Amino acid sequence: MKTKMFKPTVLALSLFAAGASFAGEIEVLHWWTSGGEAKAASALKLTLQQKGDRWKDFAVAGGGGDSAMTVLKSRVVSGNAPSAAQIKGPSIQEWAQEGVLANMDDVAKAEKWDESLPKVVSDIMKYKGHYVAVPVNVHRVNWLWANPEVFKKAGVKVPTTWDEFFTAAEALKKAGVTPVAHGGQNWQDFTTFEAVALGVGGTDFYKKALVQRDAATLSSPTMEKVLTTFKKVKDYTDKNAPGRDWNLATAMVINGQAGMQIMGDWAKGEFLAAGKTPGKDFVCVPAPGTDKAYTFNVDSFAMFKLKDKANIEAQKHLAAAIMAPQFQEVFNLNKGSIPVRLNMPMDKFDDCAKTSSKDFVATSKSGALLPSIAHGMAVPSAAEGAMKDAVSQFWNDDKMTAKDAMAKIASAAKAQ
Ligand code: BGC
Repeated sequence: MKTKMFKPTVLALSLFAAGASFAGEIEVLHWWTSGGEAKAASALKLTLQQKGDRWKDFAVAGGGGDSAMTVLKSRVVSGNAPSAAQIKGPSIQEWAQEGVLANMDDVAKAEKWDESLPKVVSDIMKYKGHYVAVPVNVHRVNWLWANPEVFKKAGVKVPTTWDEFFTAAEALKKAGVTPVAHGGQNWQDFTTFEAVALGVGGTDFYKKALVQRDAATLSSPTMEKVLTTFKKVKDYTDKNAPGRDWNLATAMVINGQAGMQIMGDWAKGEFLAAGKTPGKDFVCVPAPGTDKAYTFNVDSFAMFKLKDKANIEAQKHLAAAIMAPQFQEVFNLNKGSIPVRLNMPMDKFDDCAKTSSKDFVATSKSGALLPSIAHGMAVPSAAEGAMKDAVSQFWNDDKMTAKDAMAKIASAAKAQ
């Protein structure tokens, strides 16, 4: 029975290709609604349609996915789960514990996922040793995106240390542009915060303070320095930053209204969708002080238990398609990320992706490959949410001291 599913006959294949009536429906929850993201999402849709399945888009706008997760919860609670949902990191385990995720071991075995994935990734996709989710890509989060033309006008170089960052920011301000394009939403605040924590505190600090949530490290002088540096970044953002979507912040760098943005490489998808060329119209450099480290964010789809046979079959098509080399290439060329599959040719990818790929391998050996907290890869969702709120409170409240913030973050980190 199971073998049949993966070795369809020629007749079955042609019926699928012709969009035969028994094709299943695939409803996929995601939050890929910006220019670059939508292009990548449509590559997924097309792949499935080519297999004869019906794609039902379930897009919930909102960078970072907070709104999507709220909608997902209410759908699952009412017994109406989609086929697949963009769920990442420890949340996969949380959903699996609820007993609502489907076992994908048969697809994984047939498609050799264990052999094709880095262990750090396949471990995240499994619950009690069984695959319940499929990874799409690897995003690097600790990037700085800059408009070289704007930097040239201001007469400064793109920064590689935090000292250089503030020197550049001053010069950009004097030149009349917004130095740092930022969107004041808690996941964006935390994306900046974790980049500062890594750049100022280093790899061991990042692990101890933010991943292991060690109380002493969270109350250390290094943490105070991190928070003070983080808050200083705010001086170089504009007054319209609160609430701004990340892609609108990227647009400010694209059109020269701002000099730089700290953001994961989904931002590259926006530059590319706007017809910009990497290395010429925009540059990517690791966030200041973080070139020897890599904060990763793996997008993945968790598969929900379904009842309808044709839909279950279509769900397996989706799982197999996501990991197929051709899809991994097309999708990631649009998304700004790199393929999650090992040993993929990188010749069609640009230099930002090539650097990301090289650094992913190097840091996985050096111990500096780190999960992003801001993007749901490191800590239980309750702690993540509480820590994000505490960091954003400090960012927004100019009366709050770094010491007060340290106490708030340390207490938030205890949430389970
Ligand atoms: C996701 C990306 C997405 C970004 C902005 C991240 O958490 O992993 O796929 O592009 O949020 O929405």
